[in-house]
Amino acid sequence: MNHAPVLYDEVLRFLKPETGRAFLDATTDGGGHARGIMEAMPRDAIFVGIDRDKTMVDRLSREFSNDGRVRLIVGNFRDLQQITRRFADSFDGILFDLGMSSIQLEDSGRGFSFQKDEPLLMTYESEPEEGRETAAVIVNGWTESDIAEILKKYGEERFARPIARAIVTARKQKRITTTQELVRVIEEAVPARYRHGRLHPATRTFQALRIAVNDELEALAKGLEGAMTVLAPGGRLVVIAFHSLEDRTVKNFLRDSARDNKGVVLTKKPVVALEAEVRSNPRSRSAKLRAFIRNP
Ligand SMILES: C[S@@+](CC[C@H](N)C(=O)[O-])C[C@H]1O[C@@H](n2cnc3c(N)ncnc32)[C@H](O)[C@@H]1O
Repeated sequence: MNHAPVLYDEVLRFLKPETGRAFLDATTDGGGHARGIMEAMPRDAIFVGIDRDKTMVDRLSREFSNDGRVRLIVGNFRDLQQITRRFADSFDGILFDLGMSSIQLEDSGRGFSFQKDEPLLMTYESEPEEGRETAAVIVNGWTESDIAEILKKYGEERFARPIARAIVTARKQKRITTTQELVRVIEEAVPARYRHGRLHPATRTFQALRIAVNDELEALAKGLEGAMTVLAPGGRLVVIAFHSLEDRTVKNFLRDSARDNKGVVLTKKPVVALEAEVRSNPRSRSAKLRAFIRNP
């Protein structure tokens, strides 16, 4: 299983890795964008990659074990400054490609996909710490109104209330521990026309749980702040978001940074995938890329 990097050419165009001494990919995953950056950057530049998923970092580490310019770290980009401090004081290019990858969806075994039958974890960490929030903890432990709230907020789910109610009713009979158990509860909670609509009725609930489990919006806000702190003069920051709340966070952050005279937003409107890319890689359909250049 591979992950096709989204907006690949656009990322390299905005990041300009041909010039600079240090590059940071805050969401390295399978290294789709990372390989492009490494190939294009000067021979004496360094590349730092971060990902929360140890399986992905281990995989890429094996590939680059002989390349002294490459450092790959398991970590959360919300701690970006602390993580990167030992490698470089500042970076000439920083990339965030948010959310989950196709590899995690298909191969992680952690319950990201409603099409598989897997334990309900949804943690980006492949080895979650003891006591870590998981999707199972949320659906079996949170109150009905808290569940409904995240389904509405992070999933924009129209049937947030009935789904939350059905989850709480079902768990009284038996703990919900697998993706398929949750899918059945959702299917029974929504009207028939929604069950057979364009989108699988579990899509939005799964998205909402993933965002909540990984505290994605908070991590993004902290990650962007950290990135701005370590962005070198003239350095470039590129962020790809897949969710409207994420994109709004990015948009507002870059606008405020420009207002504070830290630099200039390079994308008046977000850059989106061309039709050909959407056709070959449906994941790119909702991608929005924004870029920023730090003042010299
Ligand atoms: C869409 S994938 C990146 C794909 C990569 N650009 C490529 O082309 O192969 C997003 C990755 O970000 C990671 N991730 C999500 N939130 C993170 C966080 N807060 N800190 C570090 N990594 C994170 C996920 O584990 C996932 O591997």
